[in-house]
Amino acid sequence: MSERPAHEILIVSNEAEVQQCYQIRIDVFAHEQGFPIETEIDHLDPIATHFLMRLTPSLTPIGVIRGSKSNETGYYKLSRLAVLKDYRQFKFGRELVEAFHEWVRTDAQKSGQVDGSVKVVCHSQIPVKGFYAKFGYIPEGKEFDEEGDPHQKMVLELPLQ
Ligand SMILES: CC(C)(COP(=O)(O)OP(=O)(O)OC[C@H]1O[C@@H](n2cnc3c(N)ncnc32)[C@H](O)[C@@H]1OP(=O)(O)O)[C@@H](O)C(=O)NCCC(=O)NCCS
Repeated sequence: MSERPAHEILIVSNEAEVQQCYQIRIDVFAHEQGFPIETEIDHLDPIATHFLMRLTPSLTPIGVIRGSKSNETGYYKLSRLAVLKDYRQFKFGRELVEAFHEWVRTDAQKSGQVDGSVKVVCHSQIPVKGFYAKFGYIPEGKEFDEEGDPHQKMVLELPLQ
């Protein structure tokens, strides 16, 4: 494996960065994996927090993850995790999930929860269940269809301390 490239993760703060996140998702989910391009941008995008990973110093975008919180359930949702194919196996996926978890902890604490744990949910594609399991996500319920492909709901009780 070649050397791990220098990189950074930021929470996006302007429209140009949001568009860079969308472009990575379109490259990975639509062009590489064949999911419908029409539904790639969904109802969560306007309200979600978008994380962008980019190389330094070039600022070339290479990875994304998206976080949101349901007002109904109070659960956090991890979605749209993707690392461009050429940059996989460098632990960038892990770093994006860890950045998302840190954001969840901070957000929960801002909302007044100081100890215990918060529930985080993701809908995993079947081949990456093992990836999420490494962080403690546990499958809940049966596989279901999402965008024409089987998915598994996975749940993590994320400790706040
Ligand atoms: C899933 C994805 C984000 C992982 O990113 P990555 O940067 O290659 O993964 P990492 O290098 O951070 O891997 C972290 C750990 O998970 C493991 N892992 C990676 N992919 C895995 C998989 N598909 N199944 C099980 N374990 C996996 C790695 O071996 C590593 O293990 P270790 O920490 O014990 O050594 C990347 O493969 C991807 O973008 N895939 C296409 C999009 C996709 O499927 N997204 C998920 C939608 S639910």
